Amino acid sequence: VGSGVRMPTTGPVTLAVASNRGPVSFDRDQSGALVARRAGGGLASILGPGVEKHGALWLASAVSDADRAAAKAGIVDAEGFRLRYLVTGADQYRMYYDAIANGTLWFLHHGLWDLPRQPLFDRPWWAAWDAYVKVNHTFAAVIADEVADGGTVLVQDYHLSLVCGELARLRPDLRTAFFAHTPFCSPAELRLVPDEVAQLILSGLAAAGACGFHTARWASAFDACCEERLGRVPTTFVSPAAPDGADVARVAGSDACAKELRHLDSQVGDRRLIARVDRIELSKNLFRGFAAFDDLLEQRAPLRGEVVFAALEYPSREGLAEYRAYRRDVESAVKAINDKWATAEWTPIILDTTDNYARSVAALRRYDVLLVNPVRDGLNLVAKEGPLVNERDGVVALSRGAGVWDEIGDHAIEVHPFDVVGTSDALGTALDLSARDRSIRSAALRRAAVSRTPIDWFDEVLAAARTPD
Ligand code: G6P
Repeated sequence: VGSGVRMPTTGPVTLAVASNRGPVSFDRDQSGALVARRAGGGLASILGPGVEKHGALWLASAVSDADRAAAKAGIVDAEGFRLRYLVTGADQYRMYYDAIANGTLWFLHHGLWDLPRQPLFDRPWWAAWDAYVKVNHTFAAVIADEVADGGTVLVQDYHLSLVCGELARLRPDLRTAFFAHTPFCSPAELRLVPDEVAQLILSGLAAAGACGFHTARWASAFDACCEERLGRVPTTFVSPAAPDGADVARVAGSDACAKELRHLDSQVGDRRLIARVDRIELSKNLFRGFAAFDDLLEQRAPLRGEVVFAALEYPSREGLAEYRAYRRDVESAVKAINDKWATAEWTPIILDTTDNYARSVAALRRYDVLLVNPVRDGLNLVAKEGPLVNERDGVVALSRGAGVWDEIGDHAIEVHPFDVVGTSDALGTALDLSARDRSIRSAALRRAAVSRTPIDWFDEVLAAARTPD
């Protein structure tokens, strides 16, 4: 590791962040030259401003072939970031990312397993686990190699659960913090994975100087798991992430967004709009949201023809069979509801699966009700971004399974994520609120959304980092 031509850098690395997905992805232009593009996704927008402010080195996995080619140059400067991409063989990457990070740990922390069938720890699974351990150790070795004496490392998310443990061994001088952007499983859920695996994950995390979470709920779950398995509770801290208000406002004010809003307006007309914006993701609970809308139309005839549900859902993690199947099932559920209710003038559900950020932001500007009903979510940034740009005193119907519930639940309409009739009632209540109620709630949501910035979040994580015990 570490060979290759280096771009000029700005001196020793005293601060590094590590995440699986980096803030920039590379591509080839027509002449075959590498071009850098800012990657989408929540993590880049949460971390980006703090990384830029502090000039931190960002270590991430090379995901595409173009990323792998760019990684050959060692540390590169691109899109305002100082980056180092780690190369993993394609098969090993699939085992680490698809089978373990997304196929196992994501399901574990979000409570998504269909227990009669999953999880299933067979021999291919154990081979994948070995790959996961190796990739985590490679991350730790590269960090150990790059970061100067007494430097600080901020490790992000479940892909890298074992990095702080290995770093404590290789470089006990470093100050470290681990931050989980997901929920954390309960002790009972953790008992579903083999003891050796549970032990390695918890001891890997507990070896960080401190472990951070978006809400006290996930920190307590982590504490309870550590208490049960390790017999001690490591240092934790709670720091909810914040939207990048300037960036969201820039997109909302762009020509591209204005064009998307005109298009949406031509579809919705003067009807009311329920919107949702997510990845096509099992934890986002798309089915029960559509089933609730179907129930609402069933129960309240006057709403037929008068309300449109726009679902802006971009594909995600399609390397996993579960995600591909979920997408197909979502598409057929929407088709069934549209076939049942549509008229010549009205399509009840607009399902858009293109990855078009300007279009998503246009829907956030226009919604009357924003439905955010995940079964469980580390935070859910959309619930804070929506109120920042919404122009209609829109209401947020929010699942109490989302971490952000703890911050803004008082100003939202509560959704029990598994209760379809309850969700239908919540949508009805949200549509019925008086103009005065809507304006009080949306003002409170806006205040909550601007009360913190990504820099506040980053500086809190930085302040929490310390040398491990
Ligand atoms: C979501 C989660 C993050 C996670 C990211 C990875 O944004 O909230 O915790 O790091 O997904 O997504 P990816 O597309 O890289 O699998």
